[in-house]
Amino acid sequence: MLKQQALEKLKQETEEANLPLKQTATNLVFGKGNPDAQILFIGEAPGKFEDEQGIPFVGKAGKLLDEFLHTINLTLNDIYIANIIKFRPPNNRNPNPEEIKAHTPYLVQQIEIIKPKIIITLGNYATRFILSNCNPDKMDSIPGITALHGKEKEATINNSKYKVMPMYHPAALIYNQRLKPEAVEDFKRLKEMFGQKSLDSF
Ligand code: URA
Repeated sequence: MLKQQALEKLKQETEEANLPLKQTATNLVFGKGNPDAQILFIGEAPGKFEDEQGIPFVGKAGKLLDEFLHTINLTLNDIYIANIIKFRPPNNRNPNPEEIKAHTPYLVQQIEIIKPKIIITLGNYATRFILSNCNPDKMDSIPGITALHGKEKEATINNSKYKVMPMYHPAALIYNQRLKPEAVEDFKRLKEMFGQKSLDSF
């Protein structure tokens, strides 16, 4: 099955699942971008605008992410973006462990369909989930984003190895402008990684 079709089928299954947070949300926010992309970005959870439109990263944080991508000549066609949590938590509160456990099997299936060459985790939740090899019970043992951003890491997800680079969540950069120069450096590193050698050689 083509990746696009496999993702459509999974989206349908996610829609039909009785997931926590579904009752209070307006729309499922499943993913956007190119299913054949080599770079997968993973965020945390939909916000207000994402919930209204059913599309990830369309609000303020999304605009900033677009700008960063633009600076390294990437467009939505070069990447795919999904979240840990598929429905908006009320008032944008942090997701709780039960919600993470219930939602993340769908993210894991997205990863297995897309098979990216590199996963960019945005912020603490995505970083801790992926670097715990997708084991929600082990997330607490992973250091925070301040220690890990811009560093090349690896995750093993159902016997497949993936390169991972944690980055600051764009929402954190909006709150704390002083982090921006570090984020610029991290994006430059990403550009170097797929500029010098083709991602195929990873
Ligand atoms: N923040 C996220 O982590 N994901 C979105 O889709 C929007 C904002």
